[in-house]
Amino acid sequence: MSIELVKVEGNAEPNAVYQQEFSVRYDYAVYFTEHLFARDNPVFSQALTRREPNKRHRFVVFVDANVAASWPALVHDIAGHAEAYGDSMQLLGRPEVVPGGEQVKNDPALVERLHRHLLGLGIDRHAFVVGVGGGAFLDLIGFVASTTHRGVRHIRVPTTVLGQNDSGVG
Ligand SMILES: NC(=O)c1ccc[n+]([C@@H]2O[C@H](COP(=O)([O-])OP(=O)(O)OC[C@H]3O[C@@H](n4cnc5c(N)ncnc54)[C@H](O)[C@@H]3O)[C@@H](O)[C@H]2O)c1
Repeated sequence: MSIELVKVEGNAEPNAVYQQEFSVRYDYAVYFTEHLFARDNPVFSQALTRREPNKRHRFVVFVDANVAASWPALVHDIAGHAEAYGDSMQLLGRPEVVPGGEQVKNDPALVERLHRHLLGLGIDRHAFVVGVGGGAFLDLIGFVASTTHRGVRHIRVPTTVLGQNDSGVG
């Protein structure tokens, strides 16, 4: 981040006015893969370790309930994946299945419940909060992550075509 301070002319001390400007450069990786949580797929581990390769990264996963219903083995697969890549990752708790769809973006009680869940797991800015679901669900989880603790890391796993084109990368 760069900050520039420019004094606005015509204002004598001690009443000087400065125009302050800053810009933030931000980059993130977008991965394309299939069978993300298969035991022989290293992509999720690569995403967690991208910036700190020698660390064991803590993460929490929330799964869209409609995705979990369509893919009953998913929660189990995520836990198995975390075991297989235990050197680079530590799954906190069980993957939490949470309602998905547009209505969850209008449910403050759900946001509060997820805040409490993350705080109970001791989430801080070194941990990742992972959402697996449709675009509305990812918006919910991103909001919850960013309002639980400043600087929490976030991974979005979009499960709809719109999510893959838009909210997963937006
Ligand atoms: N943050 C951003 O940059 C951004 C960009 C574009 C859109 N959005 C948001 O995304 C939302 C739309 O996303 P959407 O089109 O993914 O809809 P959606 O999230 O509402 O998903 C549609 C339905 O499909 C279910 N679902 C998701 N994946 C599934 C799967 N694999 N199998 C079975 N069911 C599944 C969901 O639970 C939901 O009931 C809107 O709320 C929009 O505001 C956000």
